[in-house]
Amino acid sequence: MTSEPFDYAAAIRTIPDYPAKGVMFRDITTLLGNPRAFRRTIDDLVQPWAGSKVDKVAGIEARGFIIGGAVAHQLSAGFVPIRKKGKLPWETIGEDYALEYGHDRIEIHVDAVAKGERVILVDDLIATGGTAEAAIKLLRQTGAVVEAACFIVDLPALGGADKLRALDVPVRTLIAFD
Ligand code: PRP
Ligand code: ADE
Repeated sequence: MTSEPFDYAAAIRTIPDYPAKGVMFRDITTLLGNPRAFRRTIDDLVQPWAGSKVDKVAGIEARGFIIGGAVAHQLSAGFVPIRKKGKLPWETIGEDYALEYGHDRIEIHVDAVAKGERVILVDDLIATGGTAEAAIKLLRQTGAVVEAACFIVDLPALGGADKLRALDVPVRTLIAFD
């Protein structure tokens, strides 16, 4: 399917020095609030998997839930939440990771994915790749086959996408910011 080019950079707001001095925050709420942009984002993200079988989409809290839920619906796949520490009610496994501006821990339910299930990881943005790398480690511990990782925004200067490719995970992104 070919379609008109879409200006993702224009649909995403940039906020300098948020949440810390020196960070250029790429705010996708402007894209989400634009019906045409949101529809186009989901269509573009799922395009490589149209017609192929994906068992589950894993989304990372919080912004990855919005994108991942829509991607899962579009692919007729299940949705797996990967949450910040202490939020999931059942038995979990977790991983600590470093962020562009801090540290955190993410967790997944131990039984969220069955061994051998094909999973696509989704988040809004990849920066250092620390969050997504931790998510891939968790998914692989459950027995998932991580088919790919998809993001709207790539910050290539921070090296995250290359970090995931080094883990043998193909990476799909829609717009890169310097
Ligand atoms: C942001 C973003 C990614 C992560 C990317 O989430 O949504 O999950 O940072 O950074 P990284 O590639 O350096 O790991 P954040 O931790 O700010 O949480 P939020 O979605 O709850 O705002
Ligand atoms: N998460 C990590 N870095 C970010 C950035 N620059 N903009 C938005 N979300 C982020």
